[in-house]
Amino acid sequence: CGIVGYIGFRPAQDVLIKGLSKLEYRGYDSAGIAVFDNGDLHVEKSVGRLAVLEEQIDGTIPGFLGIGHTRWATHGRPSDDNAHPHTDCSGRFVVVHNGIIENYLKLREELIAKGHTFQSETDTEVVAHLIEELYDGDLFNTTIRLLEKIEGAYALGIIARDEPDKLIAVRKASPLVIGIGEGENFIASDIPAILEYTRETYILDDGEMAVLTRGQVDVYDFAGNKIDKDIFHVTWDTVAAEKGGYEHFMIKEIHEQPKAIKDTLTSRISEDGQRVVLNEVSLTKEQMKEIDRIHIIACGTSWHAGIVGKAAIEQLTRVPVDVEIASEYRYSDPIITDKTLVIVISQSGETADTLAAMREAKRLGCARVLAITNVVGSTIAREADDVIITWAGPEISVASTKAYSTQLIALYLFACYFAQERETEGAKEVPEILNALKNLPAQAEKVLQTAPAIEAFARAYADKEDAFFIGRGLDYAVSLEGALKLKEISYIHAEAYAAGELKHGTLALIIEGVPVIALATQDHLYEKMISNIVEVKARGAYVLALAWQGDQEIGKTVDQVITIPRTLPFLAPVLAVIPLQLLAYYASVARGNDVDKPRNLAKSVTVE
Ligand code: G6P
Repeated sequence: CGIVGYIGFRPAQDVLIKGLSKLEYRGYDSAGIAVFDNGDLHVEKSVGRLAVLEEQIDGTIPGFLGIGHTRWATHGRPSDDNAHPHTDCSGRFVVVHNGIIENYLKLREELIAKGHTFQSETDTEVVAHLIEELYDGDLFNTTIRLLEKIEGAYALGIIARDEPDKLIAVRKASPLVIGIGEGENFIASDIPAILEYTRETYILDDGEMAVLTRGQVDVYDFAGNKIDKDIFHVTWDTVAAEKGGYEHFMIKEIHEQPKAIKDTLTSRISEDGQRVVLNEVSLTKEQMKEIDRIHIIACGTSWHAGIVGKAAIEQLTRVPVDVEIASEYRYSDPIITDKTLVIVISQSGETADTLAAMREAKRLGCARVLAITNVVGSTIAREADDVIITWAGPEISVASTKAYSTQLIALYLFACYFAQERETEGAKEVPEILNALKNLPAQAEKVLQTAPAIEAFARAYADKEDAFFIGRGLDYAVSLEGALKLKEISYIHAEAYAAGELKHGTLALIIEGVPVIALATQDHLYEKMISNIVEVKARGAYVLALAWQGDQEIGKTVDQVITIPRTLPFLAPVLAVIPLQLLAYYASVARGNDVDKPRNLAKSVTVE
């Protein structure tokens, strides 16, 4: 989510809306603002993009103090009521929040017992009510007492009707910056929202809060002691700032993968590390035992994740899985029974083909639909029986990266869960898999360090018109995604081939100097893979291999090796895809393409 706040001499509404437009990359399922106007707090909020809110406001709310929010749903689906800002019962206090109040259920119960009525399902609303409960005529003191009661991660913006000369900002584990102006001051989740007005900022640290008036900003710790903060002068331009210092959203999102993987795993593994906990899945043990076939349906990158998912589910449960392209599936008269579980995978949750295929499966009477999506409250999430959210955060670049790796995580978790609940032979492997999953964020961080080597390779080969990705088993599944990435954004023609299939046709295309990216992470297929590499080497290919750290052999056969830290071969796709994403990215940059918005493609394809 993104938050903004303003106190000064300009119409607050303009500053807030402009600021939010710069923060939409942090979430865009609903938006809202609150402006102090003529002795009252005027709140406008709406589900949907910021443009919907602008239309709803229709005119200007006068006033020079306000807060605003653009939301990415966590607690409570996207709706008008769940949109921020949130107010207390009396409407005297308004709050915007980014993060999660972990003890909100307990606080909510206590507040309800005291007579508070809630308008939303959000964790944030408890903050407004708690302030109302604690208010002693001084918003600063009240906030300090509030902070003693709430737990979790939060950036907050707070204003009170009876103290219209003040805006309070709080930060604990969610980002917040203060913009320092002349006769005006700002708060925002990120610098781009305020860069139009000032380059002088305080970057709040965890455990700091600030009191803003028109002419002054004072920073305190949570006990109310004043802190001397250094001013941070921003030197970058707005566009660069939005990308957090990265040149493109894609490279930023590639680098966000360790966190995205971690967030997707969080609270889904039992404390003893033995079991998967998927409280959000309502499928019962009995229902799971009844399932005799699974259809995974998706498009594009999500379909590639599905191919890995098939291997994971089949290996652990021996339940047959078909992975289907949604646009084919919907017209294929699929064979579905009431024992077929349908899993749809969609980053956006809005892809028209996937949605139609899912509706078709329902119409044909499948047992249940489980959706894996990155967008809470999306159409697919709403229509599915169960939803596993991938906590990748908003993905802006058209070429999907962190959504793919988190889809893999969700699929591994589901495969383990399905095995555990069906009590299959494969369930014995679950604790070992879970342990390895937990190491992936740190290992992904290491893989990112291969970037300079990959960049050099990408530059050297950027003028080629063809590239081949080869692998066996799960390496083949990852090759498909590597080839798609390269095609999408570098426009280099790329083909992924099951390495053993090369000799049945594609080998004819291997000529002197053609780049071949060979994946060799599947131990049981390693020798076979080496033979296939020798086949392409013999035809003059330049081979870049992707192998485990410590592999002493492969370097003797290929031209260049990129290594990834060892995990279970079963989980290799999560790490192996990262160098391939980097390769596509650097090739695209080297060719001078519009990396984040490749020609002819869209992020979310909501037409057939
Ligand atoms: C578009 C995007 C792809 C994406 C596909 C499926 O083609 O460009 O990156 O993989 O749609 O999108 P979804 O949101 O359903 O995962």
